[in-house]
Amino acid sequence: MNTAVSTPLTARRGGPVQGRARVPGDKSISHRALILASLTVGESTVAGLLEGEDVLHTAEAMRALGAQLERGDDGVWRVHGVGIGGFAQPAGPLDFGNSGTGCRLALGAVAGCPVTATFDGDASLRQRPMRRVLDPLERMGARVMDCAEGGRLPLTLQGARDCVPIVYESPVPSAQLKSAVLVAGLAAPGETTVIETQASRDHTERMLKHFGAKIVSRVHGEHGRRITLQGQPELTPANVVVPADPSSAAFPLVAALIVPGSDLVLEAVMTNPLRTGLYVTLREMGAKIETLATRDDGGEEVADLRVTASALKGVDVPAERAPAMIDEYPVLAVAASFAEGVTRMRGLQELRVKESDRLEATAAMLRTNGVTVEIEGDDLIVHGKPSVAGGGDVATHMDHRIAMAALVMGLAADNPVRIDDSAFIVTSFPGFVELMRSLGCDLS
Ligand code: S3P
Repeated sequence: MNTAVSTPLTARRGGPVQGRARVPGDKSISHRALILASLTVGESTVAGLLEGEDVLHTAEAMRALGAQLERGDDGVWRVHGVGIGGFAQPAGPLDFGNSGTGCRLALGAVAGCPVTATFDGDASLRQRPMRRVLDPLERMGARVMDCAEGGRLPLTLQGARDCVPIVYESPVPSAQLKSAVLVAGLAAPGETTVIETQASRDHTERMLKHFGAKIVSRVHGEHGRRITLQGQPELTPANVVVPADPSSAAFPLVAALIVPGSDLVLEAVMTNPLRTGLYVTLREMGAKIETLATRDDGGEEVADLRVTASALKGVDVPAERAPAMIDEYPVLAVAASFAEGVTRMRGLQELRVKESDRLEATAAMLRTNGVTVEIEGDDLIVHGKPSVAGGGDVATHMDHRIAMAALVMGLAADNPVRIDDSAFIVTSFPGFVELMRSLGCDLS
């Protein structure tokens, strides 16, 4: 990605959002498929991989660590893994671009191998906290040889020769943190346990099972989980089918809700209940989202969804729902701007450490478009009304989701909405502009 030149983009109100679309593969599952297949001896295949910049950086990092990854002409990726503990010493720094997920999961994978690797990323990733992941990995025997202030990138990690299993009580509801510990735990003898007081997405647990690991997840407290992995398993190669990403589907979906006359079908959207907080919330707001057909697609449930333009009303979104919709708040805030009344989104502290300070960036995006919004502690409060002025110039801060959410707002606002840079959209949603245009949206 050429980050030196920014590419502004403007969204204008036009006709309804109409047609059928399948958004690209799920980002979380795509990273995990490449990393876990790389830790498996033999050939695994990955169909429907998200070929966005974030995941391509993970693929490159796995190659640098000795795995073989190839994309076939049929679009299926073939991964020849090196086995648990089998990574080779990389020749140079591993560049994770904009991706916290790729970087943190790979930190876990390297922590369980006797190699030393330098991790780096773009200016956004260099700002993000890595200490939260390094702390448990150091307890497991990895050593941080060098890092920027506060444990940030660039950092050099020496993996453990003899990885130690731990019981880890996660201080934040983060699937990346949980996954880093579990992936490192593959190399440790005995049981590695992660306890989370609020359940986060469980794709790592599901996929580890799919690759033959013994892993048990039990309910812990009111909203949490206790996950125990049996270390040093014999992972067996597997075929992974990546379902469509519900976090990406959220953008055309909200566009269809707020643009009058819209009628849209989104195909094969993953409906893992630890990812569908937005869908629950939008339905509470009065969104007409109909489930047409459900099926099981490679261990994850998927559904075709029909969405029609809806009159929305403001709601109170509880803090315990945040992990199941953590990436969807920018676009929910857009939906809330067009809803009648107040929407209060509670407990959004984790939004401050995403690709940007997403709490501030979301509030600023709304404000510059004439929406009344407040931040109270960790809550975002949006005062909605069915007509939004728009006309704003939105600063995206290298954040793909702020960029796409702002464009969705422009599709229904009275005046066009312009974003300063659309370049980062390819990190998670390659083809976003073309897909939205094919549904009738005016983006130029
Ligand atoms: C992800 C977890 C979430 C999410 C990110 C993907 C994952 O981050 O924001 O886009 O794939 O595990 P945290 O684990 O930091 O909440």
